Amino acid sequence: QVIEAEGMMVLPGFIDSHVHFRDPGGTHKEDFLSGTRAALAGGVTTILDMPNTQPPTDSRAHLQEKMALVAPKAVVDYGFYFGATDNNIEEAASVADQVAAMKLYMGSSTGSLLVTEFSPIFRHFSTFPLDKPIAVHAEDEQSLLYFGAQGSTEHNRARPPLSAQIALSRALAIAEKVGRRLHIAHTTTQRELELIQEAKQKGVRVTCEVTPLHLFLTEADQQRLGNFGKVNPPLRSKSDQEALWRYFDVIDTIGTDHAPHTKEEKMQPYQKAPSGMTGVQTMLPLLFNAAQEGRIALNEIIKRCVTNPARIFGLQDKGALEVGKDADIVLIDPQQLYEISNEQVLSKCGWTPFAGTKIKGKIQRVFVRGQLAFEHDICLARPGSGRPVRYTSR
Ligand code: NCD
Ligand code: ZN
Ligand code: ZN
Repeated sequence: QVIEAEGMMVLPGFIDSHVHFRDPGGTHKEDFLSGTRAALAGGVTTILDMPNTQPPTDSRAHLQEKMALVAPKAVVDYGFYFGATDNNIEEAASVADQVAAMKLYMGSSTGSLLVTEFSPIFRHFSTFPLDKPIAVHAEDEQSLLYFGAQGSTEHNRARPPLSAQIALSRALAIAEKVGRRLHIAHTTTQRELELIQEAKQKGVRVTCEVTPLHLFLTEADQQRLGNFGKVNPPLRSKSDQEALWRYFDVIDTIGTDHAPHTKEEKMQPYQKAPSGMTGVQTMLPLLFNAAQEGRIALNEIIKRCVTNPARIFGLQDKGALEVGKDADIVLIDPQQLYEISNEQVLSKCGWTPFAGTKIKGKIQRVFVRGQLAFEHDICLARPGSGRPVRYTSR
């Protein structure tokens, strides 16, 4: 097989370690086929799926059902998070080797998973294998209510850091106490990054994520997008957004928090409209474009979207282009210009908050484990060609 690549740039397939593909239970929003196709089109060759499905991925049986259900649909490689509840402490520990990480919701978001009491949090933190990360959604209930009710307004600016400080500080303190690995999902404020940086300096085994949503959008966009810009944690002020770029060194992974909801669901009154936006298809283009603009070095992006997620989640055959890794490859034309549009969106919900954004650099071909899977806007991969990732033993 000869691969034409004149004028192309080669990138390793991206790993999106934070997606919500809604399968099972929310397949009117997304299913594993539509979700993994959107990933493929966005140069993402591995995804880690969150547990807030219906039923939630919170038991061995539910995990096995999900694995069986999605296997014939996937077109990229995939792994799962196990969802913590108040009383699945032993069960979570017993299936740890079959998942990328645990997800623990310290604040409520889409779905029913939530653990807020000290005791179950502490027991999960000390019982789940210490070397396997627990990823936390560390927003405070109180601030969620506050932001939920108010939306993004001037009030946010007065109290932004409150939104995650309490839950985050608690998670850091317990992780330090028991010596466990902790991964902070969707950090959005300067204050959170300061706390994480300080904890890292003290030797706490913490890593953290930012999303392209919070890197590229602010509360001004929330005003423009209305409910379509509603997300947990909310879009922040310009100064917090700038802090994410300034504290880029503290950030370990970029994950999209791809959280599709239909247009109809989003068009309900503000209070009722669900939180979340799509992202798996637009992450690589947005970040590549930022590199083209000189905002960030390409290798700093690869670190956070490939090398680090592979290491943090122990994905055995994944990582940047290196000896012994899977041939997950993206060919991109660095000169081609295009505009992101809703029509291009392969996610079932059919919209993106980045519609209208101009991008320099168009994905031409994507290979998954050496197989040509996507070419010139067409998905060639057969449903079921995606495989479950293997985890390094710890
Ligand atoms: C996510 C969803 O809809 O599943 N929503 C969101 O606003 N981010 C859940 C989550 O990650 O908290
Ligand atoms: Zn979350
Ligand atoms: Zn999420």
